[in-house]
Amino acid sequence: MELRSLGSNGPMVSPLSLGSTKFGRREGVKYPTDFALPSDGQLAELLALAKDTGINLVDTAPAYGTAEARIGDLIGNDDHWRFATKVGEEFVDGRSYYDFSPKAIRTSVERSRQRLRRDILDIVLLHLSDDETAILNEGAAMATLMELQEKGLIGSVGASTKTVFAGLLAVSQCDLVMVTLNPADQSQLPVIAAARTSRKGILIKKPLDSGHHSDIGAALGASVLQPGVTSVVIGTIDKDHLAQNCTAVGQALASIDGR
Ligand SMILES: NC(=O)c1ccc[n+]([C@@H]2O[C@H](COP(=O)([O-])OP(=O)(O)OC[C@H]3O[C@@H](n4cnc5c(N)ncnc54)[C@H](OP(=O)(O)O)[C@@H]3O)[C@@H](O)[C@H]2O)c1
Repeated sequence: MELRSLGSNGPMVSPLSLGSTKFGRREGVKYPTDFALPSDGQLAELLALAKDTGINLVDTAPAYGTAEARIGDLIGNDDHWRFATKVGEEFVDGRSYYDFSPKAIRTSVERSRQRLRRDILDIVLLHLSDDETAILNEGAAMATLMELQEKGLIGSVGASTKTVFAGLLAVSQCDLVMVTLNPADQSQLPVIAAARTSRKGILIKKPLDSGHHSDIGAALGASVLQPGVTSVVIGTIDKDHLAQNCTAVGQALASIDGR
């Protein structure tokens, strides 16, 4: 898989990347069926397969239960990997809590550096809540991330957004934006187009509508070929599914190589 630049100054990342919600959290998720968290052995095998197929980015967050710590324990010391993590949301006792204060953001980044075993976090995003526009307009949360970037603790700064309005605002403010794109939800295409024009990075979340879409090849192929998209973050803890997803993306990319 040929790596792509995440925005004009970001790291080189694979067009397919790995989402880690299911690595560490079972409650309060929207997947169609319940599942058991993978064992350390299963997770190690999944990550080894992902590395073999050329995937080099894992997306995680403090809100994904034990995911961040498990990733750090298994691959934190492996230079092959780039990590994207987030700040602002915590998931405790079955519910989400949000805190975008500068103090909470600094504490969260410090904890992620320790959990992921990295001096420099490659990518940190605001894990925005429903009041995302107010948080972006107020500015202190993004300014705090940028201050940590300035200090050399973060590579690229971004936001995971929900609405087009907030997505466009985020494109104007930071290095990359994470948005939803799948056959059932094309609403964020204007954000992806704006990021492309401004040479900002785009990460795609929920490319299979959190497992509710079954035409894997069509969904992943369309996302990875969408102009402006840097990397499609697929959430899986199943090795066979991972292999299928890699094949689908490989075929989509090969289909345009010969043009
Ligand atoms: N920033 C945010 O606010 C936010 C929100 C949501 C998600 N995200 C990130 O984006 C990532 C992806 O989103 P997501 O996990 O919600 O949804 P998704 O990637 O659209 O779908 C994941 C679901 O699809 C299933 N799946 C994957 N490949 C499959 C295949 N080949 N065949 C059949 N089923 C397959 C997975 O089950 P198996 O495990 O059985 O394969 C899982 O249940 C997350 O893991 C997370 O890192 C971020």
